[in-house]
Amino acid sequence: MSDFPFFLAAGARRDYADRLAALFGLQRLRARPASDYWLELGDDRLELVTIGKHGAVYAEFVEGAAKHRREQGGGRGQPVAKAIGLKSAKTLPSVVDATAGLGRDSFVLASLGCQVTLLERSPVAAALLFDALDRARSHADTADIAARMTLVHANSIDWLSTLAPEQAPDVVFVDPMFPDTDKKSAAAKKDMQAFQQVIGDDMDSAALLAAAWEAARKRVVVKRPRLGAPIAGMKPSVVMEGKSTRFDLYIKQSMAKTD
Ligand SMILES: C[S@@+](CC[C@H](N)C(=O)[O-])C[C@H]1O[C@@H](n2cnc3c(N)ncnc32)[C@H](O)[C@@H]1O
Repeated sequence: MSDFPFFLAAGARRDYADRLAALFGLQRLRARPASDYWLELGDDRLELVTIGKHGAVYAEFVEGAAKHRREQGGGRGQPVAKAIGLKSAKTLPSVVDATAGLGRDSFVLASLGCQVTLLERSPVAAALLFDALDRARSHADTADIAARMTLVHANSIDWLSTLAPEQAPDVVFVDPMFPDTDKKSAAAKKDMQAFQQVIGDDMDSAALLAAAWEAARKRVVVKRPRLGAPIAGMKPSVVMEGKSTRFDLYIKQSMAKTD
């Protein structure tokens, strides 16, 4: 149970609100709070809101940046696609996104045809993802992509360690939230700072990398700010640097191999 506060603003959506509250252990409020953060279900979507400081945070696969990415995105040339090895892959790799967050990286990979399992331990992020997937499934432009995305509300360190060998994904993708001194991440947009504040830093990423390495068949991909420190404990096989982001690749087997 998380007991994160949850306010239903759209009275007609009571059944759906009950479902969200039960799935993610949310605490139903009778009135909109006057301080702090809460989840709010309106007519259109579920949002993480707070008083005044900045816009609401929500996951979105249909409109806005996701739409732009679907229509104008760089296909397999996008950095995240290159990092998971899509360019050289003979068959589309299966991916476990061990730190799903708001699902943006998962969405890019699912748009390119990968089956993606989205693991998220925070009930707030998992509820936002659940709602975004619900909307994406009922929109003609995104239904196919959403069908390739499976959300699991769990701690990846536990979940990955229970996988049987035949269930092992080709790639485990890891993008933890940790305190960075990098200027780029300090300049993160205000709404993302709110998300970060509610979710908190992921201080156990070394354990997550170890679990990901055990579970992946072909590679583990860690996304970091360009100047951020690599996750402690293991040295990447390859480092791919971008303008603001870096991918540390931990390679077990070539993507070109089909077995
Ligand atoms: C920086 S965000 C990921 C953003 C994501 N890549 C995106 O595209 O939106 C990190 C997320 O990973 C989640 N997380 C971190 N460690 C986790 C773990 N061991 N199991 C499940 N989720 C985890 C956090 O709760 C947070 O929502």
